[in-house]
Amino acid sequence: MKVLVVGGGGREHALCWKLKRSPSVSEVVCAPGNAGIKRDARCVAVGAEDIDGQVRLARAEQPELIVVGPEVPLVLGLADRLRAFGFSVFGPDQAAAELEGSKSFSKVLMAEAGVPTARFEVHTDANLAEHTIREWGAPIVIKASGLAAGKGVIVADDVEDAVLVARDMLAGNSFGKAGSQVVVEECLVGEEASCLFIVSGDMILPLASSQDHKRLLNGDGGPNTGGMGAYSPAPCVTPDVADMVLEQIARPTIAALKARGIEFVGTLYAGVMLTADGPKALEFNVRFGDPECQPLMSRLKSDLGRVLLAAARKELDGATLEWEDQTALCVVIASDGYPGSFEKGQIIGGLDAVEEAGAAVFHAGTREEDGHIVNIGGRVLGVNALGATVAEAQKTVYAALEHLDWPGGFYRKDIGYRAIAREKSLN
Ligand code: AMP
Ligand code: GLY
Repeated sequence: MKVLVVGGGGREHALCWKLKRSPSVSEVVCAPGNAGIKRDARCVAVGAEDIDGQVRLARAEQPELIVVGPEVPLVLGLADRLRAFGFSVFGPDQAAAELEGSKSFSKVLMAEAGVPTARFEVHTDANLAEHTIREWGAPIVIKASGLAAGKGVIVADDVEDAVLVARDMLAGNSFGKAGSQVVVEECLVGEEASCLFIVSGDMILPLASSQDHKRLLNGDGGPNTGGMGAYSPAPCVTPDVADMVLEQIARPTIAALKARGIEFVGTLYAGVMLTADGPKALEFNVRFGDPECQPLMSRLKSDLGRVLLAAARKELDGATLEWEDQTALCVVIASDGYPGSFEKGQIIGGLDAVEEAGAAVFHAGTREEDGHIVNIGGRVLGVNALGATVAEAQKTVYAALEHLDWPGGFYRKDIGYRAIAREKSLN
């Protein structure tokens, strides 16, 4: 079958890479794609957020399956528009995408469903938000309710900082409309994991566990980003934990949506904190994680096209997923300056040598210009390898990265450190 993938980041590269290797798939088209996706798909220059353009493209291409990668087109209702033309779409409708598009919607739904999560209040008035912040004290978490590319969450160690952040968000200074509602949350302590599920109506198929590093700097310091590296499986997600996340978080959430008349078809991504009181939901996303998708796809042995088509057609009953036993680890290479501003158009060299050293390079913010690969985004590459342990996979990735020739790029040097410490303590 022919598959159309919407998007052009590292996640979409991993999806196209895997779809191209799926026996059920004969052709992969990606819009807009990027310089690396070109190797695995035919790229068409239609932006992921150009909803009319994507609908026109789908009607011209007539794919049997459409996979929508990023959250923004889902929140803008691309899946609804495509389904109205009869396409099989993997990705939730606009109403279900509110789980990611509005943190206040998602927290209220969690409360309704009895999903374990941090205590919270939703505020639109700065004085009321300040009152709650002072009453609860620091550390405290302030979140812009709307979409902010993973950057709209501030964990404040100081009450005055928290008040300033909340006031800034509500004044529309830091995140525009996304900050017109803020969620004030109790700060949870524990290890974080990403638990993803392929959902099709009542059917929920868990993916392998993964973990990402959201902070910019080594040792999980600095600001939150979209994700600086990830690996799968996550050793802290034991079978018991995975079961708790499925039964206490994923299932009740999908049921609560259904009770509101909303059906979910797509990837449900639960960001969970493994607290002393058990797993608690931090957030939901309605798509594959980026960069979690890169290690997940490199471990998946099953035919991705078949599973996603079955989900899109509500024929997921009985489907299973097979995974490589090995660990996969992905390090993100970002442009210097990310998550702030950075210089675009810098030439990136050494990519063939990185791959010859045993790593796979997934492209995110890249473009081809005059025969060179250049950076056009904040997160630019995901360099991924498999290994018998997290430590081995990490070693291969960092050794391969020695060959990267891009002075204007940077990456964390410690991706996987928690899991490696756990491995060491078990030996
Ligand atoms: P979110 O987009 O809601 O997942 O938040 C981004 C990141 O902020 C999470 O991955 C956590 O690292 C952190 N975070 C969010 N909510 C909390 C919380 N209630 N307690 C502690 N950390 C949090
Ligand atoms: N890696 C975090 C996310 O995809 O939201």
